[in-house]
Amino acid sequence: MKPFDVYPINHINIVKGQGSLVWDDKGQEYLDLYGGHAVISIGHTHPHYVKRLEDQLHQLGFYSNSIEIPIQLELAEKLGKVSGKEDYQLFLCNSGAEANENALKLASFYNGKKKVIAFRKAFHGRTSLAVAVTDNPKILAPVNQTDNVIFLPWKDETALEQAFADNEISSVIIEGIQGVGGIQVAPENFLQKIRSLCDQYNAVFIADSVQCGYGRTGKFYSHDFAGVNADIYTMAKGMGNGFPIGGISISPKIKPVYYMLGTTFGGNHLACAAGLAVLEIMEQDNLMQNAAEIGGYLIEELKKFEQVKEVRGRGLMIGIDLPDTLAHVKAELLFKYHIFTGEAKPNVIRLLPALNLTKTHADRFLEAFSQAIKTAPVAEFNPSM
Ligand SMILES: Cc1ncc(COP(=O)(O)O)c(C=O)c1O
Repeated sequence: MKPFDVYPINHINIVKGQGSLVWDDKGQEYLDLYGGHAVISIGHTHPHYVKRLEDQLHQLGFYSNSIEIPIQLELAEKLGKVSGKEDYQLFLCNSGAEANENALKLASFYNGKKKVIAFRKAFHGRTSLAVAVTDNPKILAPVNQTDNVIFLPWKDETALEQAFADNEISSVIIEGIQGVGGIQVAPENFLQKIRSLCDQYNAVFIADSVQCGYGRTGKFYSHDFAGVNADIYTMAKGMGNGFPIGGISISPKIKPVYYMLGTTFGGNHLACAAGLAVLEIMEQDNLMQNAAEIGGYLIEELKKFEQVKEVRGRGLMIGIDLPDTLAHVKAELLFKYHIFTGEAKPNVIRLLPALNLTKTHADRFLEAFSQAIKTAPVAEFNPSM
């Protein structure tokens, strides 16, 4: 048997990590400004994280949700506190798509309606409802096609108002900053408009915080910049620093009914230990503040390069929009300067590093970037990798 080949990959075998650095099997060091799709939030192999997982594994790795799981209550309490939504309720699952799937379903249970508003270029995951609200026909199988989803242009308030007019909308799902869509920040007034229309029509505001949440922007949820609350926040990625855990934070106005949601693995002991370790480090080391400071510094410095078309983002979620002539820079950063970054089509470099990125590492990137944009493309750096 061999793996089902669904991704083009970089032919690099990373075998070790520490903080924002990783090493391949040949001993080559890399600066990791990607965190494996924005997952590494407190740095690779953080000692507190390793110890907490190790200790939990020696105690009990797993039992299902048919018993009391005190560490789940501990995680919910801590998450409520760190996220500033103490009266919200937590449902745990295992991934971002699952979080969105559960959020959309819960919204529909709540108001009995079927239609969902999503936005152009949105990415919400690959399970059936999550992929149905994702604006990418290439990943939508025929079985996932539905008339229940309305895609609206990004930032278009008039289209939003019109879509609500027949009062059939169950929920609106929106990333606070579109990630796969190219680091597009949702304007504050647009999020406020969604809030007021959801209130007016008893629809559910779902804030997809899978990539842009968990402190990455300097606030716990990037939607918080708008000063309004969503009804459901979905999260995953940074939540477990690599241990698969996702969740939804649910407004107190939505009441649980037995069996409306459920999961075998979600909220197990080991996953909760990982989630707690992340929040403890975030709190103890002021990681949201660091994300705001180092991210702000990077954004300001990147704006000084005149070859860059646009720098977008907040905190440590940064998009560097490059012209076609600099399409090779991402590959060059990896293969010549040994720096992992992400990308969005066509030519956006995405920075999604750990929230404890240091200024020294930020400067190391800026120096490499300034060199990389000066050089012409070299054939050996294959950008399709
Ligand atoms: C905004 C957003 N939502 C949902 C998902 C899906 O998360 P997962 O891959 O954990 O299912 C992603 C993944 O990239 C994402 O960026």
